[in-house]
Order: sequence, then C-alpha cells, then structure tokens
Amino acid sequence: MNSTIENIMQRRSIRAYDSRPIEADVKDQILKATLRAPTAGNLMLYSIIEVTATEKKNTLAKTCDNQAFIARAPWVLLFLADYQRWYDYFLTSGVERFCARNALTMRLPAEGDLMLACCDAIIAAQTAAIAADSLGVGSCYIGDIMENYEAHQAIFDLPRYTFPICLLCFGYPDPKAQVGRKQTSRFDRKFIVFQDSYKRLGADEFAEMFLGETERGFKGRSNIEGAVNIGQQTYQRKFSADFAIEMNRSVRAIMQNWIKGWAD
Ligand SMILES: Cc1cc2nc3c(=O)[nH]c(=O)nc-3n(C[C@H](O)[C@H](O)[C@H](O)COP(=O)(O)O)c2cc1C
Repeated sequence: MNSTIENIMQRRSIRAYDSRPIEADVKDQILKATLRAPTAGNLMLYSIIEVTATEKKNTLAKTCDNQAFIARAPWVLLFLADYQRWYDYFLTSGVERFCARNALTMRLPAEGDLMLACCDAIIAAQTAAIAADSLGVGSCYIGDIMENYEAHQAIFDLPRYTFPICLLCFGYPDPKAQVGRKQTSRFDRKFIVFQDSYKRLGADEFAEMFLGETERGFKGRSNIEGAVNIGQQTYQRKFSADFAIEMNRSVRAIMQNWIKGWAD
C-alpha cells in the first residue's frame, strides 16, 4: 500500500480537536492542494469561505443542527457551488450585447449548471480533507450547512448563483478522544460496485448487507421507539428526522432562487 492509499484507508472523521492551532503554512499547503482539484471545464465553479469570526462559528454550531464542535474547530471552511463569479464575468464581458448582436437569448445558470458546480465544490472539499489528513490534520464534513439557507445567506452574504454545499471543520485530533475509537464500517463492495448495469437489491441481499451492522450495533434493540430493524430506525433517525425535513425545505428555497430567472 502506498502512503496515499494508506491515508485514505485510515482516515476517519475528527470531531474533537487539540487546542493547537493549525499553522499558517499547513493551511497554505492544504489550500494549494485544494485548488488543484479537478474542475469541470477548468472553470473552478466553487468558492471557499474561511469562517474565522467567532460569532459566525457559534451561529453555525446552532444553525447546522446544533453541533457544538463546529464552534470548537480551529479551522472552518465553507464550500460553495458558485456560478455567480462566471455569471458576473459574462455580464462584465458584454455577453448581453454579444447575444443581442447575434440574435441569441442570454441563458442564466440553471439546474445542470448548479449540479456541475456542486460537483466541483465537493471534489475540492474532499481534496482538502485528504490533503489535511496527509499532514496530520483531521476533518469532519457538516452536511447540515444546507439547512437554514436564509440565515446562511445573510451571514455570508451569499448571492443568488451560489449554493452552500458543504462545510468542513479541521483541527489536529484530540488524542484523548481517539482512544479506543474504532473505524466506521462500510457496506461490502458487491452491494456498491456493479458491472455494466444497476442492480437493485432484494430482501436476502439487504439481510446480508446489514449482517455485520445488525450484529455489531442493532442487536434487535433500537433507540427509536417501535423500530424493529435498521431500515425503520434509519428512516426515522436520518431520512425523516427534523434536520432532513429542514434540509429539504432549505435546498428547495436555494434551488427556487437559483432557477427563478430561468423559469420566468
Ligand atoms: C456529505 C457529508 C455530510 C456529513 N455531515 C456530517 C455532519 O453534519 N455532522 C457530523 O458529525 N458528521 C458528518 N459527516 C461525517 C459522516 O458522519 C462520516 O463520514 C461517516 O459517519 C463515516 O465515518 P468516517 O468519516 O469516520 O469514516 C458527513 C459526511 C459527509 C460525506
């Protein structure tokens, strides 16, 4: 195993941080590596906001489903899918005049552009996470940044053609918090990687897929009232939890804002 694969295999999310700040040159290396991430059409359809203001971190710790460790993270990066920069550049470059001259209707960023920009932003984020890990800096994604759009839009001054797709918390791991902590498991490859076409799974395959997890974690008990298996538990705890309902509302609001001009 080479060192890159080894880092990936050993990586885990880090939510408890040492008080040691991340040195400027380490941050610089991580950001340099991040900006080398592949990007659609080499357009760099993303922006990164370093969240340094204590009050903003404190707010995120609440608005992102009350995760207090966000406020304690020494370094917090917000990754935005961003078509605003290119759209502004199109306007600055006289694309409206160009379209009028050539009898074209100027197109606005739409759904596909949003998805492409999300791909760019997430790939950049994961590049940052891997680069950080290789330097001994732990990280944890916060998907809940997609919730409470209106609050985040106001805090970060987000224009229409941006989308806060993920937040990454960074810090040197608190060694005490790592003691006895096992790596999380993953589903067996055969349930995830298919040959040539998609394979829907049946009851027997699901039973096999969850065998390890059932034995290790669930054991017929649930912290969700009335749930008798992992499917019921996960449905209630993750898929239809309050945070998921809010995330879907918030993402709908962002998308409606993004595609408003397109639908007009
Ligand atoms: C898109 C995404 C969103 C996530 N959001 C959160 C989050 O809000 N809070 C958190 O503590 N972990 C979050 N995580 C981390 C996952 O819980 C973690 O990756 C998963 O449990 C596997 O554990 P591992 O990363 O230690 O292998 C997120 C991960 C991803 C990829």
